[in-house]
Order: sequence, then structure tokens, then C-alpha cells
Amino acid sequence: ALPARVRIHEVGPRDGLQNEQGTVPTEVKAEFIERLAAAGLSTIEATSFVHPKWVPQLADAEALFPLVRGLAGVRLPVLVPNERGLDRALALGARETAVFASATESFAKANLNRTVDEALAMFAPVVTRAVEHGLRVRGYLSMCFGDPWEGPVPVEQVVRVGRRLMDLGCDELSLGDTIGVATPGHVRRLLTACNEAGIPTGALAVHFHDTYGQALSNTLAALQHGVTVVDASAGGLGGCPYAKSATGNLATEDLVWMLHGLGIETGVDLGRLTATSLWLAGRLGRPSPSRTVRALAPA
Ligand code: HMG
Ligand code: MG
Repeated sequence: ALPARVRIHEVGPRDGLQNEQGTVPTEVKAEFIERLAAAGLSTIEATSFVHPKWVPQLADAEALFPLVRGLAGVRLPVLVPNERGLDRALALGARETAVFASATESFAKANLNRTVDEALAMFAPVVTRAVEHGLRVRGYLSMCFGDPWEGPVPVEQVVRVGRRLMDLGCDELSLGDTIGVATPGHVRRLLTACNEAGIPTGALAVHFHDTYGQALSNTLAALQHGVTVVDASAGGLGGCPYAKSATGNLATEDLVWMLHGLGIETGVDLGRLTATSLWLAGRLGRPSPSRTVRALAPA
């Protein structure tokens, strides 16, 4: 049976905009987040408190976060890689954070300049302190299906790192198909293996990129397994600057079209969301890659 309701974890302002070539003005980012909230998205990942040289696109986090933190009824998680990032987020009153690990050594090195073990050691005090402050902490796990340097990633390897993230105290684990190579059978195998390792489906989220056009099929497989938290990016923006061959995230509009067609509630107004992505595409100077956005665009 499919869930009656899905919570969409909107990552456009973070996973989407971290990958833009040009500089997006802070006011445009703030308006993007406000419009997403007005379209009914209840969880909007706002920005990252990472090293500004590593992700210059999000170097304006200190200016942006105060512009949006007062939005009523919206959860605004932010990425924090280390204690320095957590300090910055706490200073601005962030209530939700996310740490981001890798299932593979190659991507841990490329994205965090750490081995997998070193990255987990870096996250341990972050999660402990965040929990002490009453914050929610999401654990992202990248390269859960394949890795551009290492090829296919064994399910047991993914589950081992995911289990360690949960043991640090994360309350949610988002399984990332960073380069978009997953297929539905692989999704089912990974979700089942997570459950067998004691990670309940209720703690799992899925994070698909659409490189091979499989993101919606993979999402359906996850819904059939009972997953109710799905990551998506408005207009299909996205990628990862430290993962070659990562293309856009699953577009939120494509996801909402499928979910509403299945009778699954999201709280999202698809018309307002599409209008938001069309507005942002105008600001970015190129069309949205989302099929649904293009189909619903006024002629
Ligand atoms: P490092 O170079 O090893 O840093 O980078 P360090 O710990 O050696 O520190 C060096 C300097 O940076 C120090 O300053 C620190 O204070 C400063 P100095 O003493 O030399 O003057 N520093 C910071 N400054 C501001 N904010 C901070 C911070 N941390 C250190 N937070 C580090 C290590 C983790 C910082 C770096 O690798 C980094 O920022 N990585 C982030 C990469 C990133 O954001 N990637 C994209 C997000 S992940 C993703 O997209 C995947 C996902 O969507 C899921 C999926 O699709 O799979 C989540
Ligand atoms: Mg991603």
C-alpha cells in the first residue's frame, strides 16, 4: 500500500543553487524560499554553512538566513559539515541541521577532504551538540548506489556507514543517489538492508538525481516500501560540484505530479510551485529541466 501523505524535503535553494555557475543575488534566494513556502512546501533546505571557498555559491549564508528564518510554519534545515559550521548556524538561530557523509572513500575525500572515518569523527561532536541544543539532525549519505570513481557501491557498505550516522544521533537518514544511477530493484534492496540493520523505514528519506531518468521510478519503489519523506528540487535544479556526472535532482514538480496522480497528499500547490520555477528560470536565464514545469508553462 502507498502512503496517504508524503513530506517533500525541498532542496532547491541548497542542492540546486550550490551548483549554479553565476552568482544568484541573496534577495533572489530569499524570494525563492518565500515562494516555495507560499506554494506549500513545509521543509525547505535553505543553505549550507560550509567553507565559502568550497561552495562559493552559498557563501552568503549569513546574509540569507536572517531574511527567511521568520517564515511561519516552515522547517528550514541547513547543512553543517563541522563544528565551525554548527557555530555559524546556531548563531543565526537555525533549528534544523544536516551533516553529510559518503558511502565511498573517493567522494568523502573529494567533498569533505576526509576519509569516511575522519568525516564521521568530524560529525560526532556536531550531532551531539546539535541534539543538546534541541535541533533536529538529518544525516545525508551520498553515493548510495554508484560512485563516479569507484563504480557500483555494495549495499552492505552503504548500510554500514548509514548505521554509524544513525548511531551518532541523527534522527533521519537520507539515502542519496548522488550521480543518479539507481534503478528500482536496487532501491528495494538497499531499503530492505537498512531495515535489517535496524534502521526503520520511518527514519529513511530518499534523495534521487535524475541523470538516467530513473528518479521517479526509484521514488515509486521507495513509496511502495513505505518511505514517506522524499527529497526534490524545484524545477529540477541541482547537482553536486564535487561529484562529476551528477545532474539535476528529481524535480519537485515532477514528483508532485506523480504523487497527486496517485492520490497522495503533499500540501503543495503545483500551479504556484511551477510559477516559482518559471520565475527562477527567468532570473537564471535558462529554462527549467523539469518536464512538468515545461508542460505546465503558459504557451
Ligand atoms: P578543509 O579544507 O579540510 O577545512 O575542508 P579545515 O577543517 O582544514 O579548515 C580550513 C579552514 O577553513 C580553517 O580556516 C577553518 O576555520 C575554515 P583557517 O584556520 O585556515 O583560517 N573552515 C570554515 N569556515 C567557514 N565555515 C566552515 C568551515 N570549516 C572550516 N564550516 C570542509 C573541510 C568540510 C570544511 C570542506 O571540505 C567543505 O566545506 N566541504 C563542503 C562541500 C559541500 O558543501 N558539498 C556539497 C554538499 S554535499 C551534496 O551536495 C550531496 C547531497 O546533496 C546528497 C547527495 O546528492 O548525495 C547532500
Ligand atoms: Mg544531492
